[in-house]
Amino acid sequence: MKKIVVLNGPNLNRLGLREPHIYGHETLKDVETKLEHFAETQGCIVQCKQSNHEGQIIDWLHEAGEQADGVVLNPGAFTHYSYAIRDAIASISIPVIEVHLSNVHARESFRHTSVTAPVTKGQIIGFGTLGYQLAIAALVEGETK
Ligand code: DQA
Repeated sequence: MKKIVVLNGPNLNRLGLREPHIYGHETLKDVETKLEHFAETQGCIVQCKQSNHEGQIIDWLHEAGEQADGVVLNPGAFTHYSYAIRDAIASISIPVIEVHLSNVHARESFRHTSVTAPVTKGQIIGFGTLGYQLAIAALVEGETK
């Protein structure tokens, strides 16, 4: 069974409370529980983690590169400037899909740049928490072909 690691970056532990008009009312716990159930329907296992710390996300990416088959990553604001997370993605050979809940292109201009996207398999942007499910489905599908 494929193992997929779902990593959420800074401030995503505040989901449900944080700017709900942008990020919705579901908490991170709600989302993670939903993804665990979704994973069962897809025949894979998901492991969900969240950190507000850049180094922790980098360590988890390295670890996933050794132990998992794919990563779903919402790097939060690190997306826009963390070359260290970009290099960590480039350093592993499993596919990483970048997810953003909001349509970052319809927001402030600093959100229009992703330094991480060029080293990911692809991005899913603007579909709320459904984006995580779409990314898991893409990783499962991609690996069976
Ligand atoms: C986000 C978009 C980022 O710009 C922001 O800093 C976040 C969340 C999203 O999921 O829409 O923390 O990654």
